[in-house]
Amino acid sequence: MSTLSKKRYTITSALPYANGPLHIGHLAGAYIPGDIFVRFLRLNHKDVVYVCGSDEHGAAITIKAKKEGVTPKEIIDKYNKQIKDSFEDFGISFDIYHRTSEPMHHQLSQGFFLNLYEKGEFIEKFSEQYYDEEFNQFLADRYIVGTCPHCQNEGAYGDQCEKCGTSLSPTDLINPKSTLSGNTPILKETKHWYLPLDKYQPWLEEWLIEGKKGELKSNVFGQCQSWLKSGLQPRSMTRDLDWGVDVPLSEAEGKKLYVWLDAPIGYISATKQWAIDHGKNWEDYWKKAANPEDESTLIHFIGKDNIVFHCIIFPAILHAHGGYILPDNVPANEFLNLEGDKLSTSRNHAVWLHEYLEEFPDKQDELRYVLTSILPETSDSEFTWKDFQARINNELVAILGNFVNRVMVLSHKYFDGKLLRGSMFTAADQNVFEELAKYPGLIEQSIGSYRFREALSHFINAARLGNKYLAEEEPWKVIKNDEERVKTVLFVASQIVANLAVLAQPFLPKTAIKLFEMLNLPQQGWDKAGQVDLLSEGQQLGEVQLLFEKITDEQVEFQLNKLAQAKIDNAKAASVAAPAKTNVTFDDFMKLDIRVGTILEAEKVAKTKKLLKLKIDTGIDQRTVVSGIAEFFAPADIVGKQVSILVNLEPREIKGIMSQGMILMAEDADGRLDFVNPTSAIKSGSTVR
Ligand code: MF3
Ligand code: ZN
Repeated sequence: MSTLSKKRYTITSALPYANGPLHIGHLAGAYIPGDIFVRFLRLNHKDVVYVCGSDEHGAAITIKAKKEGVTPKEIIDKYNKQIKDSFEDFGISFDIYHRTSEPMHHQLSQGFFLNLYEKGEFIEKFSEQYYDEEFNQFLADRYIVGTCPHCQNEGAYGDQCEKCGTSLSPTDLINPKSTLSGNTPILKETKHWYLPLDKYQPWLEEWLIEGKKGELKSNVFGQCQSWLKSGLQPRSMTRDLDWGVDVPLSEAEGKKLYVWLDAPIGYISATKQWAIDHGKNWEDYWKKAANPEDESTLIHFIGKDNIVFHCIIFPAILHAHGGYILPDNVPANEFLNLEGDKLSTSRNHAVWLHEYLEEFPDKQDELRYVLTSILPETSDSEFTWKDFQARINNELVAILGNFVNRVMVLSHKYFDGKLLRGSMFTAADQNVFEELAKYPGLIEQSIGSYRFREALSHFINAARLGNKYLAEEEPWKVIKNDEERVKTVLFVASQIVANLAVLAQPFLPKTAIKLFEMLNLPQQGWDKAGQVDLLSEGQQLGEVQLLFEKITDEQVEFQLNKLAQAKIDNAKAASVAAPAKTNVTFDDFMKLDIRVGTILEAEKVAKTKKLLKLKIDTGIDQRTVVSGIAEFFAPADIVGKQVSILVNLEPREIKGIMSQGMILMAEDADGRLDFVNPTSAIKSGSTVR
């Protein structure tokens, strides 16, 4: 059965963390696709609820609060409002935008936890976790930094090294430090409740891999397969945190639910609240029914970093609980890049929705159009301002806007905006009607298979059809000798405009409304799409409205400059030197024996990216030193160079080589290295102090 043939739908878009404003990457990931899909369902008179809300728990929130020096509550209130407003501005048509901080959500999540707990689904396990003795708290992964064991990056987090991309556990870090106190944390025993994902693996393989092959998008299916292939592990559903939903057990005082347990349940609590507000029964949208025909179809729109949670963990939770429907599909998108670089909140390399709206007021549909045409549906894609300009000027303005404008202006000019049928339809007229009638089906097929880019290109092709028709019929010439024919041409062309109004609705909601207003026609459902008698003879058209304007080169320049400025600001911020370390005594310093040495030989250490094996004349002796400078210096270039070397450092084995001493290097904030060396030749063995 086709995705679009069901009667009831529960559609979700990922709950964004309320810890910062939204940018175009968010829209392109989970919200524009979800909104197009839902608008399409509504146009087809389906029973649909579209839910979303703010994800207001977890370290994502508390870390931001610490950074801004305010409470988590202040953070979520501020960003929940800003995010909600941005969604509204861009016409993302949620039926409810809820919050996971709502008491009802806390209760529902606790109910889920207790249900599983009472059924004995959880494994209770003690483990040792890092604890900050000064702050008296366990440290979430993100609260621990240390040296990455893979690339030696000193700023790696407890869950991931952002420099080399490896995912880590806190205990992998060399020299771990608490970001709260700066102290070395201790390991302390703690108890947690684990969901045995390994136990559900056979069920998941059947339901997901067997059951959804060919239905899931290939990028989603591939990720699921590889998760299952590497074998699922029990995952802790509780955390030692002071912000979140309380674990509802007396022996778990001070512990919170894992944010990825409570957040997806947020979809259910949002639906519940919406049902209360609108006199509906929430269970119709979430519970299994005696007759599967009556069950709702659940679809999650998300970005690719959320796949495992929506395809594996949340379904496992729903399955373990029982009574709930499972996702029918999870059409996740890949990532959107910006001007050749990853979107980045911390580097301010982004197009923020609230800033876009200030700079391009009333151009929401334009951004929706451009983003839809480049959605990262099967692989990462890229937004550039030049392309933004080109798509708006060459497609929205030159094709859609131009066609509609000519039809409207000519109708008003020749016939005071009255639609007249004129003479008989010609073969060309019949032909254009036949062509037009194909588009609704094409668009429906594309939307039904989550190919929104393709759906949009069908839509703009329908507008092309209108443009071509006018260009061939040339009513502005024909008017000189055959007014009756011009009446017919504009009558036919207006039916095309009416169809474009219907077809535009899922993609360009504001534009669709303008089109209906111009035609003086009430909004129409999808069942009317393709019909060529949407307007009747004698119909009085409304006023001409401007649909789209060209984007100027200056506007593009301005945006590019803004991104360039962000890069400069970033570099400046990064070049602020790290604060000084605590003082040492002169005697402490004098314990270090630093000499000028000369590099005699250099070679790469096999199977490493960063390491060079150096032979150094220290004046005292010739010795071997292993140094992590291979990314910056080729062996041949440094032989003969003088360096500073700490000669009384405890020898240490690195990759099977005994390293005797350490070369002193200068390192900037970007991790670039250079030697600290004399500016003129000086005898090896000279002291540095
Ligand atoms: N807040 C998460 C993120 O931004 C998404 C949560 S989706 C939900 O990655 F399913 F948990 F709600
Ligand atoms: Zn690393």
